Amino acid sequence: MIHRTFGRTGWLVSEVGYGMWGMAGWTGSDIGEVNKALDRAVELGCNFFDTAWAYGAGRSEQILRDLIKRNGDKKLYAATKIPPKNRKWPSRPEFHLKDVFPAEYIIEYTEQSLKNLGIEKIDLQQFHVWEDAWAQEDEWKEATQKLKQQGKVEAWGISINRWEPANSLETLRTGMIDAVQVIYNIFDQAPKDELFPLCRELNLGVIARVPFDEGTLTGTMTKETTFPPDDWRSTYFVRQNLISSVEHADALKPLVPKGMTMPEMALRFILSNQDVSVTIPGMRKVNHVASNMSAGDGKPLSDELLKELKKHRWDRLPTEWSQ
Ligand SMILES: NC(=O)c1ccc[n+]([C@@H]2O[C@H](COP(=O)([O-])OP(=O)(O)OC[C@H]3O[C@@H](n4cnc5c(N)ncnc54)[C@H](OP(=O)(O)O)[C@@H]3O)[C@@H](O)[C@H]2O)c1
Repeated sequence: MIHRTFGRTGWLVSEVGYGMWGMAGWTGSDIGEVNKALDRAVELGCNFFDTAWAYGAGRSEQILRDLIKRNGDKKLYAATKIPPKNRKWPSRPEFHLKDVFPAEYIIEYTEQSLKNLGIEKIDLQQFHVWEDAWAQEDEWKEATQKLKQQGKVEAWGISINRWEPANSLETLRTGMIDAVQVIYNIFDQAPKDELFPLCRELNLGVIARVPFDEGTLTGTMTKETTFPPDDWRSTYFVRQNLISSVEHADALKPLVPKGMTMPEMALRFILSNQDVSVTIPGMRKVNHVASNMSAGDGKPLSDELLKELKKHRWDRLPTEWSQ
């Protein structure tokens, strides 16, 4: 497993990390298999884990707590997130900071996450939604500074709303943020326009999330795929999105090099970009962990393939179902 420097924090993180949402929120999760998958990831050199209070109201954080306990001899980086107080994903331009992240609430949820994670300091605490209009407000700055000074949080990050990579730039320029988490994959290439150059300039950690576009970029979904009504994906893969996503993914299949799988191509596309510090595929199965971790060997895609894949950029705008 190749490691990359996580911006100005100086942490050496595995270039393939671990997304911990599905295991505590999506249907079809089996905790026995999830724990085996997590253990396998650590054995294969993964040391960066992304969770959130909102993933099962602390459940995913507790699964990470147990993993950290089982691996007391290794440094595993824990990244978590504060849910928006109004419980609305994503935030919207008309929302006020005081209704989403008031100071005392930032502190309260950081304390809750510390408890769930069973650690004394969170490596990376992130805001689970963000509006750049909040950049110049004092309240979040005072709370984040206080938690850093108290030794409860090492670094702060913003998890940027889906398909709005530029909705963070002024905030990043305040100097108060150490890392961003953004959707970046073969379809969603817009972070390259403005966000990545700024992260490079400011030396920020970059977490590329949703590497498989929630599943379509694994090449396993079809126009007939359905999800149970209590699974978040049933609200995201509404007919309109499912059909066009599958069509966009199918158009990539002829490009997959011989001996490579589509998920591997998707991960290698992301890691071919040196602006990315770590990508965090969501995984609940040991075989997914084994194949995804093997993409962290430092071998980029060929220039010809990267050139072809750039043509598959798919710019989308937030809608009522995109969340
Ligand atoms: N707002 C936010 O901050 C936000 C939003 C979304 C996601 N995230 C973070 O980003 C992480 C990744 O995103 P995601 O989990 O939503 O979506 P994703 O990583 O794009 O896709 C996850 C899906 O891909 C499947 N998969 C993984 N490896 C595979 C392989 N090698 N072959 C075939 N299928 C494979 C997984 O199956 P199994 O689960 O069955 O293994 C799961 O169904 C999350 O877990 C979370 O940590 C953050």
